[in-house]
Amino acid sequence: MRAKVNIDIANTEKLVGKGVKDSKKTMSQLIGVFKDEEAFKAADQDQVVYEVQAYMPVEEGKKGGLFWGNSMVYPGKVGTEYHMTRGHFHSNLDTGEYYWCLKGEGALIMMDLDRNCWYEEMKPGTLHYIPGNVSHRVANTGYEPLFFNACWPSDAGHDYASIEKEGFAARLFEVDGKPQLIKE
Ligand code: F6R
Ligand code: ZN
Repeated sequence: MRAKVNIDIANTEKLVGKGVKDSKKTMSQLIGVFKDEEAFKAADQDQVVYEVQAYMPVEEGKKGGLFWGNSMVYPGKVGTEYHMTRGHFHSNLDTGEYYWCLKGEGALIMMDLDRNCWYEEMKPGTLHYIPGNVSHRVANTGYEPLFFNACWPSDAGHDYASIEKEGFAARLFEVDGKPQLIKE
């Protein structure tokens, strides 16, 4: 799948084995992420929901560097909720991030510290600025894999625990064939 989007990183050889982190999230690793628990239980637990390849040329936590990620979310739904990433705040809360969409259709769902939620449509070529203090996750709202890139500061860090505990204040469901953000 990934081969369909060709990305040539000039210094890949320097990074391989050192600064490249590949991760895959299967459904079984996403307990508590989706609203419909029955639909979650009925889903194939071994299916890969999303993959990330992260390029980290400096040590994580070091100030001044930039990390780059290549993410892919497979299409599908759990009940009527679209496949999506877990989502996180950055541990260093006021650090921002850019996402940009390469292929597919999706939604970047964001939530600020007051738990206001909104989303931006993602389609090939869209660029999204995620301000600091804003949690972010991506849903695939289409029928093909959604590819997007990300760039974030090397000292941002990831806080997944807050989202695991409190969740997002709204979720993206398919309603009448279209995405709709519904408050919890
Ligand atoms: C990095 C970033 C992305 C995500 C990736 C997977 O700060 O926002 O690279 O890490 O899209 O999503 P999560 O990390 O929420 O599982
Ligand atoms: Zn992030």
